[in-house]
Amino acid sequence: MEDAIKVGLCGLGTVGSGVFRLLSENAALIRNRIGRNIIITKVATIDRYDNLGLDFSQTRVLDSVDDILQDPEIDIVVELIGGKTIAKRIVLESLQAGKSVVTANKALLAEYLEEIFHAAYKSKGTLGFEASVAGGIPIIRSIKQGFSGDRIDKFSGIVNGTANYILSAMSRDGINFHNALKDAQERGYAEADPTFDIEGIDAAHKVILLMAVSFNTLFEYSQLYIEGITGIDPVDIAIAAESGYVIKLLGRGLRTEKGYEGRVCPALVSKDNMLASVTGAFNAVSVWGNFVGETLSYGAGAGSHPTASAVVSDIIETARLINAGIDNPVPPLNIEAECLTKKDILPIDDTESEYYLRIMLNNTEKSINSIIRILSEADIDIRSMGQKPVSNDLPTQKNLILFTEMANEKRMQLAIQKLNGLSFVTKPVRMIRVEH
Ligand code: HSE
Repeated sequence: MEDAIKVGLCGLGTVGSGVFRLLSENAALIRNRIGRNIIITKVATIDRYDNLGLDFSQTRVLDSVDDILQDPEIDIVVELIGGKTIAKRIVLESLQAGKSVVTANKALLAEYLEEIFHAAYKSKGTLGFEASVAGGIPIIRSIKQGFSGDRIDKFSGIVNGTANYILSAMSRDGINFHNALKDAQERGYAEADPTFDIEGIDAAHKVILLMAVSFNTLFEYSQLYIEGITGIDPVDIAIAAESGYVIKLLGRGLRTEKGYEGRVCPALVSKDNMLASVTGAFNAVSVWGNFVGETLSYGAGAGSHPTASAVVSDIIETARLINAGIDNPVPPLNIEAECLTKKDILPIDDTESEYYLRIMLNNTEKSINSIIRILSEADIDIRSMGQKPVSNDLPTQKNLILFTEMANEKRMQLAIQKLNGLSFVTKPVRMIRVEH
């Protein structure tokens, strides 16, 4: 048997320790699959590691990444420390040195997409980032290799488990956002700073990566439209349910004749849509290819073991290339370097959607007529309209519920501004897009 593949592991936190455990527990199986051992020869960590129950007999534990970066014996550098400073150095220096890199760092990849992928294209090493999107679901590999003959026209998915857990809990138990967030934090789902989960930032990082591999194009993260779930009211969840919908935080990318759309926002999803039944901390991504049609991948989007599974799948893919003595035949963004371009994401104002509107108002026929006129002047067609009482304490007020046909976002925003200016509209209009 040939020499072992040598791995330098940067970070021994939740995911890093999961990778160590997986490579150790499944060592014999992996050796049979690739014909070589994979050994983590060096680990860099600043955290306590003697309480993890791991066997470090073949591993040197270091408190700095330098020894890993400078070690010519290491074949694959695994970056699992997160953040954008040391992690960026690890990824770029390793690629520049011709080493292969595996990372789960979606924030780093999304925010420095162009710089990192240009380095990956130039490197003799590979860049594996399966674990950066939807944890254990092999969605990057599915798109890059499973659908490699298809033109990807659209993807839409639930890519943040914490947000999905919160919305599912609000929906199931009728609790408000803050109590659901507390519950998610107690279960350890939320990121260290839950802002990333609840404001859609974590999902946005993943959407940029999905757009890049789906559309084989570089994009600017700052151009992505991002709206989180902090404004979701249990009232909207209840009304959506009565109307046959659930509210999900969806990340989506779309190829249109005008260009590429990309957004993260809460959306009403029909109960018939498979994404509607994805509850709790699970993730799922639908991808539409022009030949394969619609596909759906489902699984755990986070957690030590599922994410470790994705990291190790990249390590094994790289080990097989090293075995075969070839460079990666799959380019980092599934397109040859000379064809790789950067494109703008269409501004949200230029996109179209169906909309749900909840307008709290003093209930008079005249007021409803004014609302219909404003929407009609904005060229927005109403598909259905209904009324709901607000509460027993406010007997004169009603929630007017409207579902629209497809309409332009900018016209919708201008109409909402006008509606908010009406004297009988008693609270800002609540608008949620409807997944079409
Ligand atoms: N906090 C993230 C989530 C972890 O809830 O999905 C995985 O990126």
